[in-house]
Amino acid sequence: MKDKLEQLKKAAIDEISKASNSKVIEEIEIKYFGKKSELSDILKSISTLSDDEKREIGPLVNSLKLELNSIIENKKNEILNNEIDLKLKEEYIDPTIDLKNEKVGHMHPTSQLRYKLEDIFRSMGFMVYDGPEIETDFFNFEALNIPKNHPARDMQDTFYTKDDTVLRTQTSSCQVRALREFGAPIKAVIPGRVFRNEASDATHEHNFNQIECIVVDENISIANLISTIDMFIKKIFGEGVKIRLRPGYFPFVEPGFELDISCLVCGGKKCPACKHTGWLELGGTGMVHPNVLKAADIDSSVYSAFAFGFGIDRMMMQKYKVEDLRWSMSGDLRFINQF
Ligand code: FA5
Repeated sequence: MKDKLEQLKKAAIDEISKASNSKVIEEIEIKYFGKKSELSDILKSISTLSDDEKREIGPLVNSLKLELNSIIENKKNEILNNEIDLKLKEEYIDPTIDLKNEKVGHMHPTSQLRYKLEDIFRSMGFMVYDGPEIETDFFNFEALNIPKNHPARDMQDTFYTKDDTVLRTQTSSCQVRALREFGAPIKAVIPGRVFRNEASDATHEHNFNQIECIVVDENISIANLISTIDMFIKKIFGEGVKIRLRPGYFPFVEPGFELDISCLVCGGKKCPACKHTGWLELGGTGMVHPNVLKAADIDSSVYSAFAFGFGIDRMMMQKYKVEDLRWSMSGDLRFINQF
C-alpha cells in the first residue's frame, strides 16, 4: 500500500507540474480527488485493513491528500495569474489613439428631446415618473373617466390583448398610477412610448412618444397650467414662441383644451408648414376631472389639478423642421446623422 501511495504521489506531482491552463488543472483535480479517483478507492479500502495497518496507512493517506491539495492550489494560482497577465496584455487599451475619424453613435433626436424635457421639468421641481407600456384597461381608460362602451374610446384606436390589458394609448394612463402612489400634492411628468392602431403618415405613427404632466395642489388654476406650459415651450423652442388654447374634449379634463404653438417657420404669419393657419398643434390639456381625482382617492373639494399630454415626436419634428415623421424610425443613417 505504501508503494502504491508513493507511485500515486509521483504521478500526480508530475502531471500537476506539466499543467498549463485552468481546464487541465481542473481535470487533474478530478482525476486525483474525484469520487472515482484512485485516492478515493484507497480511502474506502482502509476500513478493510487490520488495526495495525490502519494506524500506519491512515495518516499516510491523509498527509498525501493534504500535500497534493496544496500543490494543486499553488499551481491553480500560478495558472490564474498567468491567464490574467495574458488577458491584460491582449485587452490593453491605448488611450492615446486618435479617434477623430472613427464614427461614434449618438442619441436619437426624439430621445435627446425627451431627456431635455426631463431636465427642464426636474429643474422646476417635478418628479419624473415611469409606468408600464402594457397597461390595464382600468388605468388607460376607466380611471380616466372613460368607462367601457364610452364613445370616447373611439378617439384612440387601441391594441387590445386577450386579458383586459392594452398597449397604452396615452401616457395619461399614468396619471392615476402616480396619484395613487404619491398622493397629493404632486408635480410629476411622465414621458414614454404609446401605441395606437393607426396607419402611418407624415405626422402619425403607430408607436410614438408623449410626455404627460400632472400637478395637484390646493388652488391650482388654469393660470398655473398656462404659465407651466409657456415656460417649458419657451425653453424648448425659444422666447419668441406664443401658445394658445382652443376648446378640446378629453373625458378626463374639464374644461379641456387643445394646445397650439405659433408656427416656427413663419412666426405666425401663415405659411404652408402651418397649413396657412399660423399655428401648430402640440397636444391636449385641461383641469383634471373630479372623477379622476376620486379614482386616486383625492378629495376634489380640497385639491384641484391640471394635466397635459404632448407628442414628443411632433415636438421633435417642429424643433428640427422634420417634414415626415416616418423618417424618425426608418433607421436611415442619412436622417440620423443630421442630429
Ligand atoms: C391624448 O393622448 C391625451 N392623453 C392628451 C391629454 C393629456 C389631454 C392630459 C388632456 C390632459 P391626443 O390623442 O390628442 O391626446 O394626443 C396628444 C398628442 O400626441 C397629439 O397632439 C400629438 O402631438 C401626439 N400624437 C397623437 N397621435 C399621434 C400619432 N399617431 N403619431 C405621432 N404623434 C401623435
